[in-house]
Amino acid sequence: MRYGHFDDRRREYVIVRPDTPLPWINYLGGDAFVGIISNTAGGYSFYRDARLRRLTRYRYNDVPVDGNGRYVYVRDEEDGTYWSPTWQPTRRDLQGYSCRHGLGYTVIGASYVGIDAETTYFVPLDETLEIWSMRLTNCRDEPARLSLYSAVEFCLWNALEDATNFQRNLNIGEVAVEAGVIVHKTEYRERRNHFATFACSEPLAGFETQRDAFLGPYRGWNEPVAVARGETSNSLEVGGFPVGVHHVRLDLWPGASKRVIFLLGYHEDRRETPRGPGGESPDMDGARRTIERYLRADVVDEALERLRANWDRRLSALQVATPEPDVDRMINTWTAYQSAVAFNVSRSASRYESGIGRGIGFRDANQDLLGSVHMIPEKARARILDLASTQLVSGGAYHQYQPLTRQGNDTIGTGFNDDPLWLIHATAAYLKETGDWSVLDESVAYGDDRRTSEPLYDHLIRAAGYTLDRLGPHGLPLIGRADWNDCLNLNSHSRDPDEPFQTAPIRDGDTAESVFIAGLFCIACDDLAEIARRRGDAAAERRLRTAIGAMRAAVDRHGWDGGWFLRAYDAAGEKVGSHENGEGQIFIEPQAICPMAGIGLEDGRATSALDAVERRLATEHGILLLQPAYTKYRPDLGEISSYPPGYKENGSVFCHTNPWVVIAECRLGRADRAWDYALRINPAKRERISEIHRCEPYVYAQTIVGRDGRDHGRARNSWLTGTASWAYVAMTQWILGVRPTFDGLEIDPCVPADVREYRVVRRFRGATYDIRVENPDGVARGVRGIRVDGEEIDGSVLPVFDDRATHRVTVTLGAPS
Ligand code: BGC
Ligand code: NOJ
Repeated sequence: MRYGHFDDRRREYVIVRPDTPLPWINYLGGDAFVGIISNTAGGYSFYRDARLRRLTRYRYNDVPVDGNGRYVYVRDEEDGTYWSPTWQPTRRDLQGYSCRHGLGYTVIGASYVGIDAETTYFVPLDETLEIWSMRLTNCRDEPARLSLYSAVEFCLWNALEDATNFQRNLNIGEVAVEAGVIVHKTEYRERRNHFATFACSEPLAGFETQRDAFLGPYRGWNEPVAVARGETSNSLEVGGFPVGVHHVRLDLWPGASKRVIFLLGYHEDRRETPRGPGGESPDMDGARRTIERYLRADVVDEALERLRANWDRRLSALQVATPEPDVDRMINTWTAYQSAVAFNVSRSASRYESGIGRGIGFRDANQDLLGSVHMIPEKARARILDLASTQLVSGGAYHQYQPLTRQGNDTIGTGFNDDPLWLIHATAAYLKETGDWSVLDESVAYGDDRRTSEPLYDHLIRAAGYTLDRLGPHGLPLIGRADWNDCLNLNSHSRDPDEPFQTAPIRDGDTAESVFIAGLFCIACDDLAEIARRRGDAAAERRLRTAIGAMRAAVDRHGWDGGWFLRAYDAAGEKVGSHENGEGQIFIEPQAICPMAGIGLEDGRATSALDAVERRLATEHGILLLQPAYTKYRPDLGEISSYPPGYKENGSVFCHTNPWVVIAECRLGRADRAWDYALRINPAKRERISEIHRCEPYVYAQTIVGRDGRDHGRARNSWLTGTASWAYVAMTQWILGVRPTFDGLEIDPCVPADVREYRVVRRFRGATYDIRVENPDGVARGVRGIRVDGEEIDGSVLPVFDDRATHRVTVTLGAPS
């Protein structure tokens, strides 16, 4: 069953009924001002940091779900009927409801009692405000007398305090209304120099800023007393629950339309804080200029056009045309977009991340960059340097940091032993994309010793050293608190239910080892050795190559279980992910990462490992993380078995890992399988089973319940997952085979035999490559010849032109002639 459809031309997903299985969301803004918006206008906004600068309130865990948002009520003054054109919160029986989620904007509209209303929500580029641009049309044969009531509930900035510290909160809220603009200025009188404004393009018939005055006691957002009565009281909140409500009266002739614009803005002024008594009024000058500018319809329309053009420009860095529409729509629009969103907000704010907890994850951010570096290379560069600045002198890394302060998060701390290697991987991806070697010379201080600054290159060398300084009894990397699998906590045997595994004390950690980190080390250090060579650091190159050799030997000797790769050794030195185990006999991660690292390709081990994946882990809904799922609680393995079988790390389809298997299959040249696996988790392919999948059909979710779970196939935790970047990399670089390397774009497709032709248009290092791949003999692998602008080239790497021109590339697959 579907709840909408893709509009590929407009790059929108169009939802045609409001009661989707879950709120289906989109993101507004990006760099600084960010909003989450659902298909019924639910959600909230924040400036840079979803915890510390939250503008509006949102109640996770609320019932019914998704009940706070950016609402406008329309009231018919003739008979007092009122409704929400976004369906929520009044949930009337609307006609012609649609929600168009586009790139950085959302348009929600519907008709009720002959009045059409459509609102476009977006954040203009480089601004810290969101626009709600509403168009009302009277489709009746007679004049309509209407009232509008906009409504937001302000959050008292710090979202954690806001949801917990009521003895204080109920006494600090402050709102002012200045020349029709509602100003939320809680705590402005002391340490804050920021405030929010809520403005409207129309003269006000009234306003409310006290929630109780607007809703009335014991009433919900679905039936505000002020709207029901058609009266506002110009309430001014002090303490209590500050809200922003404009009341606008509107007379519309039959057939007439009217635009009404609302602006929710974040502002800072530059005056010193604390200001003390008398200094408690925000300096509105700058804010007012911005507000006046955007209250004009022509300015709003132009800003939306600029936003669209910006996305078009970004996405034009890579466009494909294959025989499979669900591949095209994901690659050309949605997965690139999702990667960029994840890059921006990391794991901070979604329907599943409350904006309070996780901030920017070290390994997450490094991986999110893989799917967006070609679109936003400058941002990727800055992010790499930020990440390096949270690195420790030991080469290790804080697992997470808060975006505003760039301070490592001490609660979760360090010791996730895969973390530092991802910085190498991300930097290599950046170099391959851009050829900007200068980044390696940027001097960056360490997170635990700000006085020690070193070039990024040295940070990477230390990152590799971090693994080598921590090898276990089998010569494999020690796992520390965890590796990629956050819930395989082999050194944290917490039995205290009140103590999270992620932060519980860990034991010495000199025994438990990870085969996954071994594979990742080989991948990362292969690139790092090449980087060293190109920088003329022969000594480092030699050291790294020797270390890779030793690591591969350790995997050969101690990381093979006979039919597949072992997952780990636990703190007692026992095998994890072995046929000898009762449960958790095979894990997906090493079966993918080892072949990706080139381990086992020559001697058949990669083939058997991936055959085992197919036999034991692959389902119609994707590939499971492990089998059999743990039915017994295993405190010695950490958090993993705390999940019921089939959920999350305990044997769901943990989507992030599936593209790794796709890449591994490509390394074996098994194109049909690679393609098939890629499509099993492709959200657009799953659109027709939306009632089972339940999450948005335009973005990947972190997990899909595995076959041991009760609702196999149900997705959860959409949007903020490394799946987006990896699905993008797997499809574009490994299946379609257009892959950035240090020397240029390499062409190395691995496509099913019935894909006879496709096209990839790729912007790369200052030129555009219009690549047509032909597969006349229906082979899976192998390039017979490549012509660039009509000339046959040697090898499979396209020359770097850097000439702003478009170059025609024809690739013929087949046996070399
Ligand atoms: C998530 C991890 C997170 C952990 C904390 C896991 O299921 O996937 O990313 O760190 O839960 O509980
Ligand atoms: C989600 C986390 O964000 C990611 O870093 C981790 O690798 C996976 N969970 C697997 O545990």
